[in-house]
Amino acid sequence: MTTVYLDHSATTPVRPEVLDAMLPFLRDAYGNAGSIHAFGRAARRAVDDARDQVAALLHADPREIVLTSGGTESNNLAIRGAVAAVAPGRRRIVVSAVEHHAVLHAAEYVRANDGVELVVVGVDSMGRVDSDEIAAAVDDATVLVSVMHGNNETGTIQPVEAIARRCAERGVPFHCDAVQSVGKVPIDVDAWPVSMLSISGHKLGAPKGVGALYIRNGVSIAAQAVGGGQERGRRAGTENVAGIVALGKACEMARTEMGEASARMAQLRDVLERGILNCIPQAQVNGSQSHRLPHILNVGFPGADGESLVLAFDSLGIAVSSGSACTAGSLDPSHVLLAMGLSYGRAQSAVRFSLGTTTTPAEIESVVARTPDVVRRCSARSH
Ligand SMILES: Cc1ncc(COP(=O)(O)O)c(C=O)c1O
Repeated sequence: MTTVYLDHSATTPVRPEVLDAMLPFLRDAYGNAGSIHAFGRAARRAVDDARDQVAALLHADPREIVLTSGGTESNNLAIRGAVAAVAPGRRRIVVSAVEHHAVLHAAEYVRANDGVELVVVGVDSMGRVDSDEIAAAVDDATVLVSVMHGNNETGTIQPVEAIARRCAERGVPFHCDAVQSVGKVPIDVDAWPVSMLSISGHKLGAPKGVGALYIRNGVSIAAQAVGGGQERGRRAGTENVAGIVALGKACEMARTEMGEASARMAQLRDVLERGILNCIPQAQVNGSQSHRLPHILNVGFPGADGESLVLAFDSLGIAVSSGSACTAGSLDPSHVLLAMGLSYGRAQSAVRFSLGTTTTPAEIESVVARTPDVVRRCSARSH
């Protein structure tokens, strides 16, 4: 059976060039970047070069990049680290209702453990947050605002530049979870007054378990992992040299190839969307059609159940997901779709198709051709 992988938002394969770049650091160049001998110095140089590559993709200063184990840790470091760094008194944090659980649960954690007031701002039916509503939720006691760039379930892009400006006007730090957007759309921390921004390696062709948090010079956070003082005291732990080299290479490749690769993905996403809507007229696209990432398509199939659809696609060798992969296993409908005002039934009928740089027109054609049968089988089953 030929397989089609359309779950690149959950994770995307390690790119061959990235694997080639990282392998020497798992074989002969195994030094600890903290050691002063030749092995250690080679590892340190590799980490420094990778930090430069990550910084270049974001238009940041390399000293503003803290290397982490991925998006979840970056989000936790931003939120818990920001709260831990401020004197008691600034005691509110503001997030949007459609954040990834790595943000929502970190925010919930500081509410429960640090006595921070948590304000969750809703979204419109397209899944977009209004920068005026964020500004209205911010007060003089606000420690941090955290709003994602591109949503992992719907692909909807938030007006983060406007939000960043409103926060800057109030002198409130702004964190942005850009895990799904980095490498898909240009991100320039120079142009946006963002204070912190999270990225994850395994969404852009590096392996799982590496990521970064951009922290603007002058923004203070308290380290959440203490020990050896690595990452200039902001994140202790022996550096994952091979993973970091991979992240750097993936960022460098994204910087040079992003324009073309994203245009291709957007075009294939449109073919998939049109194809599905043509053969299943009752299908509904969830999320913004005008502010969207190029690689994510979320479709509701009224009358069918998302989990059954995923399993039926899987039986044909097609990998897709229902809602967020990180909450898979739970039958709760997506908090993102519910926040957009969808009914439980509609939210539960959603399937996320997410494309990658390796997705081909033939794969999209085959998914379009097989979708009506899958939907028919699942609709019949749910009655
Ligand atoms: C928007 C978003 N934020 C954070 C994460 C978590 O990143 P990681 O898997 O690197 O921990 C994900 C992963 O799906 C994501 O999509």
